Amino acid sequence: MAKKIVIGADHGAFELKAKIIKHLKSCGFQVKNMGVDTSDSVDYPDMAEKTCKEYLSGNYDFGIVCCGTGIGISISANKVDGIRCALPQNIFGAEMSKLHNNANFIAFGGRIEYQDSVTDMLDAFIDAEFEGGRHQRRVDKIMGLEA
Ligand code: RB5
Repeated sequence: MAKKIVIGADHGAFELKAKIIKHLKSCGFQVKNMGVDTSDSVDYPDMAEKTCKEYLSGNYDFGIVCCGTGIGISISANKVDGIRCALPQNIFGAEMSKLHNNANFIAFGGRIEYQDSVTDMLDAFIDAEFEGGRHQRRVDKIMGLEA
């Protein structure tokens, strides 16, 4: 069955979001777009909340959030119980965020000039599998911080 992915962005990354959606669809993924799709200003915590809540209520494989830097929206996503949002800077970080942290969200910045392309980082995240073992204990401790 096709992987199901939810994605949301603020006005600082709506073009990047469109690019990501196009890439994911061309790879055969099902994508739920939570907006926004224009440069009209919105608040990134609202987009993070909306996208994370959709992820938690639907049967999604993972979620993506984007803002100008990826910083504000990833901080916001990580405040939602159950979310582990990575903000990778390169392919290595994207891959490790799944291998070791079992991130269920990944964030990118529409105004950041990455050395690795966002689609390459995303593919590395998608292709990686959580290693479990000692990393499971650490992930459990991360989630314990919510209590
Ligand atoms: C919006 O102007 C901008 O602050 C936002 O997209 C993001 O970069 C915040 O972290």
